[in-house]
Amino acid sequence: MKYAHVVGWGSFRPDKVLTNNDLSRMVDTSDEWIYTRTGIRERRIASEKETTATLAFEAAARALERADLHPSQVELIIVATSTPEYIFPSTACRVQDYLGATRAGAFDLSAACSGFVYGLSMASQAIQTESVRNAVVIGAETMSRVLDWQDRGTCILFGDGAGAVVLKGSSIPGGVMASTLRSDGSGGDLLSLPAVYHNPMPMLGPEYLHNGHKKNTVEMNGRQVFRFATQVIAASIEETIAKADLTIDDIALIVPHQANTRIIETAAKRLKVPTERFYMNVHAVGNTSAASIPIALCDAVHDGRLRPDDNVVFVGFGGGLTWASSVVKWNVTPPEVSLPRREWRRARYIAARGRSKLKKWRRKLIDSVAGSPTPHARMRDANKK
Ligand code: ACO
Repeated sequence: MKYAHVVGWGSFRPDKVLTNNDLSRMVDTSDEWIYTRTGIRERRIASEKETTATLAFEAAARALERADLHPSQVELIIVATSTPEYIFPSTACRVQDYLGATRAGAFDLSAACSGFVYGLSMASQAIQTESVRNAVVIGAETMSRVLDWQDRGTCILFGDGAGAVVLKGSSIPGGVMASTLRSDGSGGDLLSLPAVYHNPMPMLGPEYLHNGHKKNTVEMNGRQVFRFATQVIAASIEETIAKADLTIDDIALIVPHQANTRIIETAAKRLKVPTERFYMNVHAVGNTSAASIPIALCDAVHDGRLRPDDNVVFVGFGGGLTWASSVVKWNVTPPEVSLPRREWRRARYIAARGRSKLKKWRRKLIDSVAGSPTPHARMRDANKK
């Protein structure tokens, strides 16, 4: 039997800070309103040069450092995101290229704010069934690019960032012990982000003038989302810990999706556990959707909130509607990597970019020298000559 252990973790947040006071100069709101309703004080905003893929890469590179795993050994990359720059190529493929993870399968996973836990569950099953030996699971978002910055009901909630974990197979019991994934599409309209595929084709008739969405920003029914979230968190945690033959008293720390403190406090009351057992960093990052759990996990480890042999629960909830939780036994201590060695290792990513460019040039060269690979085009080229 294989167990999927968390052996590395890393997060990345953009430098640019947007405070509640900054927001109060943009829309009719105040620090007091935002803080009392959500617990958020500030969030990070990606710069013009940063993308979901670059944030995801930075988090993954840090997680691989900690896991002491060379990118060429990575076998699976899953990126949970709702804000990819492209539908295809996937964000995961871009991360694969940036890392130089030449032996990895890579795909994006869409389950909104539950995406990281969905990804963790999928990756751990791939390891447990021995279809891969390791996996990098990333949650990454640039929510700032899909917000209506004039809608005070939503723009105050979200932020940008990325977090990642490395999972590795081991015969030592531990790691991801149990997971529960759930969904309810009937609540899809409560929290939505339309894809952009507005491509009018009037030549096909007037009904093709608006075939698609006209707007691609987040829409939310805040009160109903609040009700949904507070109902599912406790139920999902109870179900997952029961599957792992544990009780709530066996859980050292719960790392929930960082949507807002009031949701988490209400869930803690329902579960009858002290709020302190829920880790929260929403004040500093806002709601980073699929990235929020791995970012919070990294902060929790940094704050000394997790010790070897602790049981930790991750619980996500969000658009779809989706919700999910996992119990993880935290029992692998990664080797310490010295700072100079870590910096030196960054050179491998410069080399990976160089190799990627070479591959692109090679493709272009082959195209110009060898001509078309299809028989019809070859015949046409020959006739032209
Ligand atoms: N600043 C000031 N006033 C505001 C703001 C704002 N940023 N946004 C809305 N308001 C106003 C509304 O216009 C409304 O005014 P009205 O009564 O005159 O129409 C009023 O505030 C609503 O106030 P409340 O009812 O007190 O707001 P509520 O306590 O419901 O809080 C909130 C709203 C924070 C959105 C709450 O419903 C909530 O936390 N919902 C959960 C949503 C959430 O966390 N979503 C995250 C994404 S989902 C996810 O990650 C799972």
